[in-house]
Amino acid sequence: MIIVIDGPAGSGKSSTARRIADRLDIEYLDSGALYRTATLIYLKANRDKETFFRLLGQKKISFYYEDQIFHVTVDGQSVTDEIRTAEVTNAVSEVAALPRVRSFVNNLMREVVLDGVYIAEGRDLGTAVFPDAELKFFMSADLEERARRRLKERKEKDPGLTLKEVKQNIAERDQKDSKRQADPLKKADDAIEIDTTNLTFEQQVDKICLEISTVLKETE
Ligand code: CDP
Repeated sequence: MIIVIDGPAGSGKSSTARRIADRLDIEYLDSGALYRTATLIYLKANRDKETFFRLLGQKKISFYYEDQIFHVTVDGQSVTDEIRTAEVTNAVSEVAALPRVRSFVNNLMREVVLDGVYIAEGRDLGTAVFPDAELKFFMSADLEERARRRLKERKEKDPGLTLKEVKQNIAERDQKDSKRQADPLKKADDAIEIDTTNLTFEQQVDKICLEISTVLKETE
């Protein structure tokens, strides 16, 4: 069974999905982390597409969720922290727009969810990757609020970061993610929209958990 949450950067998908996974004791899948991993490989290939695609085919990418962290390894080496650097964040939407990268990541995800109950989050999961998902959510929040949340989250690891920079990065990524040809960021027609601008973290988690519990009861 798969439950998906899509939405723009900083809308709260990742923290919310992780809390729900812990609360309901289900698996968590962070599709953005996989696009970030592909981006890291792209940067290591010095942005040369031929080298990049060759490396992408050769490298063994593994991932698992543990202790509230989505861990990713490449050829057995952890890249969990490295995929969150500003360099990767600034390049990720460009790499994620490549159709070959999208089908690579989609295959990785579709293989893993064959077993168990998953909550997965991203941009196109309800529309392109798992159109038959049992439950779909689309989280949104206004840009100012999303930038504030993201800054708070990154401040410790990146003390020099400013609200203006975060806002600009988020706005640019939203623009690229929504306008790209291949599987753009878009609310699925059957997704439940959750606007979190004026919700606390606990309120948004409760709201989504309630919907999930109702569906789980119906399918029992
Ligand atoms: O956490 P944050 O919202 O900053 O981004 P993320 O979920 O780590 O995703 C990073 C980037 O990957 C996004 O800006 C998209 O360009 C891309 N992405 C995508 O294209 N499709 C997905 N299903 C998930 C992420």
